[in-house]
Amino acid sequence: MATSSSTQPRDTWGSKLGFVMAAAGSAVGLGNIWKFPYTAGESGGGAFVLIYLMFVLFIGFSVMLTEFAVGRKTGLSAVGAFKSTDRRWAFTGVIGVLSGLLIMGFYPVVGGWALAYIFKVGGGLLSTPEAIGDSFGGFISDPVQPLMWMGVYLMLNIVIVMRGISGGIEKAGKVLMPLLFVILITVAVYGMTLPGAMAGVEFLFKPDFSKVDSNVVLAALGQAFFSLSLGMGCMMTYGSYLKKKENLVQTTGMVTAMDTGVAILAGVAMFPAMFAFGMAPSAGPGLVFVVVPQLFAEMGGLIGLLLALLFFIGLTVAALTSSVSLLEVVVSYLIDEKGMKRSRAVISASVVMATLCVFASLSLGGVGPTLFGTGAFDIFDLLTDKIFLAVGGMLVCIFAGWRLSRSELEKEITNDGKVSFPLFGLWYNLVKYVIPVAIAIVAFMGIKSGFDSGKGEIMLVGIGIIALAGVFSKKL
Ligand code: PHE
Repeated sequence: MATSSSTQPRDTWGSKLGFVMAAAGSAVGLGNIWKFPYTAGESGGGAFVLIYLMFVLFIGFSVMLTEFAVGRKTGLSAVGAFKSTDRRWAFTGVIGVLSGLLIMGFYPVVGGWALAYIFKVGGGLLSTPEAIGDSFGGFISDPVQPLMWMGVYLMLNIVIVMRGISGGIEKAGKVLMPLLFVILITVAVYGMTLPGAMAGVEFLFKPDFSKVDSNVVLAALGQAFFSLSLGMGCMMTYGSYLKKKENLVQTTGMVTAMDTGVAILAGVAMFPAMFAFGMAPSAGPGLVFVVVPQLFAEMGGLIGLLLALLFFIGLTVAALTSSVSLLEVVVSYLIDEKGMKRSRAVISASVVMATLCVFASLSLGGVGPTLFGTGAFDIFDLLTDKIFLAVGGMLVCIFAGWRLSRSELEKEITNDGKVSFPLFGLWYNLVKYVIPVAIAIVAFMGIKSGFDSGKGEIMLVGIGIIALAGVFSKKL
């Protein structure tokens, strides 16, 4: 059944910059601008940020390099990449595909919010700053409105992914990412000029380790994986489209730096303003949708309105370049492993995602089924961000370190010795020994303390699903 790649030349990225921008486009998204600030806010600020940065540097970078290398070496997407080496490892790819489906079970809901806010801002949201918070709460708990926006957002994904990789994703990434960067810098600079803003900078960068427990550490690990698009075969799939002559180490460095830069920038854009406005840093998932409009309302005039519009356009585009990569993981699995045509694969995947999104969106209004008292939106988030991605990353490392040979990996990463990578030995040992053990400890401790907040049960369910997939791996 695994057909296409051997018979047709695989579509490859149009240019080197195109690939870096597309991979950065996948990485930079709602994870950086929506999730990072509110997670940092809920997790106590500076200490969380520091731990997150450590994880990005020591785990994220290495795992991304591993995913690019395995993807390019096999030229296959998530499942096929593992399967072509060892059938028993196919389940790791399947968990990746499942993660893609589950993340796309809530991501388009938030993408829809971003899209809606372009129109809300255009329709005069900024003229009543005191109502911005309530307006967000009312909007996301509405049973109908957010679903319509989610539908439009998902349609945009479908159109882009239908057109194949170098046509759709690459162009979108190249044109619109720099715009977002410029807007974020503008917002950050303006936010810092507000009275009382420095308290926000301090909150974000001054670590207070008394606020750290195993939950916070697991949240930082999950955030690193989510933000860098790791642990689910996404970067592996992108790597499979990468030409043999590209420098993997340099590409990994650039993507990691851009992604982390944008997350920190988003934090700097939001926290000073929040403190200046006297808002609580633990405002939760509504943070960016409440703080940013208030900030622009404060700025006032046409400039405030224009920047707010551009911000939400940029946020929507950043979300799009990420969600198309999630959709692409599922689609390329269906094409490579199930022999489907691209158009059919896109439609099948999207139908499942749309259904999950309906549950996720309704759960925010308190409607629909719950598991251990948790609604669909939070279940999908918990399962993927806290369990599947981290464990997926661990498995990728174990696979590379123990199932592939050191010389194979060295050949792939150095392009047969043409590119120098003096830290190869360090990377190899991190991947083979340190990272799997570190992730196992962080996940174990995190799940254990998750029981205190009623989240442990769901995380355990996640572990159960992975174990089941492992047991039935031969059938996958
Ligand atoms: N990294 C993306 C973001 O930050 C989300 C994502 C996760 C994309 C996993 C692909 C794979 O928004």
